[in-house]
Amino acid sequence: MEIAIETTELTKTFGLVKRLTAVNNLSMKIEKGTVHGFIGPNGAGKTTTIKMITGAISPTNGSAQVFGEEAGKNEAKARIGYSPEHPNFYSQSAFDFLVYNARICGVEPSEAKERANNLLDWMGLTDFKNRNARGFSAGMKQKLGLLQSLIHDPDVLILDEPTANLDPIGRFDVLTKIKDLAKKEGKTILVSSHILDELEKVVDHVTIINKGHTVLQSDIHSLKNKFASNKYIVETANNPAYLKRISKLGPAKLNPDGNIEVEVKNPERFKSAIFTMFKNDTKNLGGFYPLKMSLENIFMNVLGDKSDLKNNEQKTVSTLGEKNDK
Ligand SMILES: Nc1ncnc2c1ncn2[C@@H]1O[C@H](COP(=O)(O)OP(=O)(O)OP(=O)(O)O)[C@@H](O)[C@H]1O
Ligand SMILES: [Mg+2]
Repeated sequence: MEIAIETTELTKTFGLVKRLTAVNNLSMKIEKGTVHGFIGPNGAGKTTTIKMITGAISPTNGSAQVFGEEAGKNEAKARIGYSPEHPNFYSQSAFDFLVYNARICGVEPSEAKERANNLLDWMGLTDFKNRNARGFSAGMKQKLGLLQSLIHDPDVLILDEPTANLDPIGRFDVLTKIKDLAKKEGKTILVSSHILDELEKVVDHVTIINKGHTVLQSDIHSLKNKFASNKYIVETANNPAYLKRISKLGPAKLNPDGNIEVEVKNPERFKSAIFTMFKNDTKNLGGFYPLKMSLENIFMNVLGDKSDLKNNEQKTVSTLGEKNDK
């Protein structure tokens, strides 16, 4: 197992008088070739963490490394492609913008043009390649930001909300491409997003942060198993007749897909009741299994009360009257 990104007790404090700890002791290891979802409410510290990994800002404490190189050093920067939360463009065409970025990264002119064309084609933006990027819609800007992060063919992609402005088809398309970059090309991807039902389809691991602190880190499968709900799905080809009988085991309903969803207090007792019920009618039982919680439900669950998520901007701590140690 090769580690692509590692942060060790990464901490960032803003402000000298009113101190705000945006990121607090964040440690994580991201394996090469995986997609790592980075989630947390507004103001949790995601962008600040990302900026420390890309080397755009330095940590107050702790460290970040990219393939063993200290974040911010040229060796680390060269391996990273970064798509910012709000991409900005000069007044130039999408094509020129990409070529310009490739040239900054030391790519030869003819190679730079070829890469720009290939990437625009890959993202379905060829028809817009000569349009001024400043006039692009928010979604197109985001797609172009993603292409720019790929222009020097980096090993690590750091994508800050790459799908926030995209329509559902665009989100699906971009997330599928992100997954392919990891699975087919072995790139390592750290992606922050608020659109959890889509993110959960592509991530291998997640880190949830809140108010600068890590709340949870897990691979997605263990996470889903850990947070299995108290509901079971029973697949039966004879739904209406069985719905009545299964309702006696707990509150049950027929789902639009034809399966029965039932709330279960005691899983062991439930399983044995189902075996007994279908003992002489096994052909009508397709299967039964616990209903897994969505990443969004898990997120709400670990962060507690929804009201806690409102106004989540970090609180500042006044240091007036204290000796300033900075
Ligand atoms: N340059 C800065 N100076 C002062 N405070 C900052 C600065 N950058 C970020 N912060 C504060 O740090 C905290 C974390 O912000 P950050 O942008 O990292 O959150 P985020 O998780 O990316 O949120 P969002 O989901 O809204 O993008 C916030 O309270 C923010 O106001
Ligand atoms: Mg952010």
